[in-house]
Amino acid sequence: MAQRIFLAFILCFNFSVGFCGEAAKAVLVTGGAGYIGTQTCKALTDAGFFPIVYDNLSVGHQEGLKWGVLVRGDLFDRKKLIEAIDKYHPVAVVHVAAFKAVGESVKDPAKYYMNNVCGSLQLLDVMREKGVKKIIFSSTAATYGSPSKLEPIVETDPCQPINPYGTSKWMVEKILEDFRHAYGIEFVALRYFNVAGADLKGECGERGSSPQNLVPIVLQVAAEKRKELEIFGKDYPTEDGTAIRDYIHVVDIADAHVKGLQYLLEGKPSVILNLGTGKGASVQQVVDLARKITHKAIPVKEAPRRAGDPAILTADAHRAKELLGWEPKHSDLETIIESEWKWSQSLQNAH
Ligand SMILES: NC(=O)c1ccc[n+]([C@@H]2O[C@H](COP(=O)([O-])OP(=O)(O)OC[C@H]3O[C@@H](n4cnc5c(N)ncnc54)[C@H](O)[C@@H]3O)[C@@H](O)[C@H]2O)c1
Repeated sequence: MAQRIFLAFILCFNFSVGFCGEAAKAVLVTGGAGYIGTQTCKALTDAGFFPIVYDNLSVGHQEGLKWGVLVRGDLFDRKKLIEAIDKYHPVAVVHVAAFKAVGESVKDPAKYYMNNVCGSLQLLDVMREKGVKKIIFSSTAATYGSPSKLEPIVETDPCQPINPYGTSKWMVEKILEDFRHAYGIEFVALRYFNVAGADLKGECGERGSSPQNLVPIVLQVAAEKRKELEIFGKDYPTEDGTAIRDYIHVVDIADAHVKGLQYLLEGKPSVILNLGTGKGASVQQVVDLARKITHKAIPVKEAPRRAGDPAILTADAHRAKELLGWEPKHSDLETIIESEWKWSQSLQNAH
């Protein structure tokens, strides 16, 4: 018994204190039990930080948590947030927690404005009270809305979100600007484009059963969990007529959080950054490559264009490269689809 207690102590000690003896800096990761949050906690741990996962597990999964510690709590639970900050003294917050389904946000905007905007405001107000002055925020390409521009989008292009989800994220960016001005809370807002893929060692990935994004949906068809893939619009002004999006590997996204955090800890100023490759792939290219990788037929059905879906939406991410030294390393379509396919197969085999 005494031996077990000693072992547990050594393990906890090694978690919170680096092997070189220097205490690992704690970082509060809201939504750290979700798809991007878990991958970010892994990257933070690899970089020598100690993630405090703050998640209500409304969507996130406890079984995926291997990095840091879990505080099960809600953004609206002010007391719990304060307790977590008092206990772990985080040097910064990585704010990933939010709802993210565009279609649902149109049907139930109250749910999205409440959680994404009011939840973020609650968190920021606690940070203000407790003197936590740095935050990385999960924003989105949905803040741009439906631009007609065919070239990669730059951060200074106008934000004209076309659904409550995109608006909710844009509103938080505005709140962040005001909090920086009034209270000196510095932020890095990361506008992710189409996040996909799974951990390269198969240690984490998307666990939700009703994904919103193209790659996991295509792979659900490959795994015969869905009958067919609906392709919305084959008459776009692109080479094969299907819409082009900018796919970015979740490991590259996680890496940007670490680099954003290091940037803020060096005392550098607040910034909004796109995260994408600038290249883009069409729906048809995703389907063709998925067929090749999975050796499955992947039936498709043509459907009309969806309102608000632009022909091409890609990111100009030069600013992230220039300021953070960030560059996507794993965001070729092959790595994205292969890692996601392996992950979804391993989840299926585990059940
Ligand atoms: N996945 C994408 O393609 C994508 C693209 C752009 C932006 N984003 C943004 O990235 C973030 C993470 O996305 P994800 O794909 O990991 O989503 P996810 O649903 O897997 O993770 C979100 C996590 O937040 C938690 N959460 C939600 N509301 C909470 C609350 N009130 N209190 C505590 N915890 C709460 C959930 O339990 C979940 O674990 C979101 O903010 C999303 O808007 C995602």
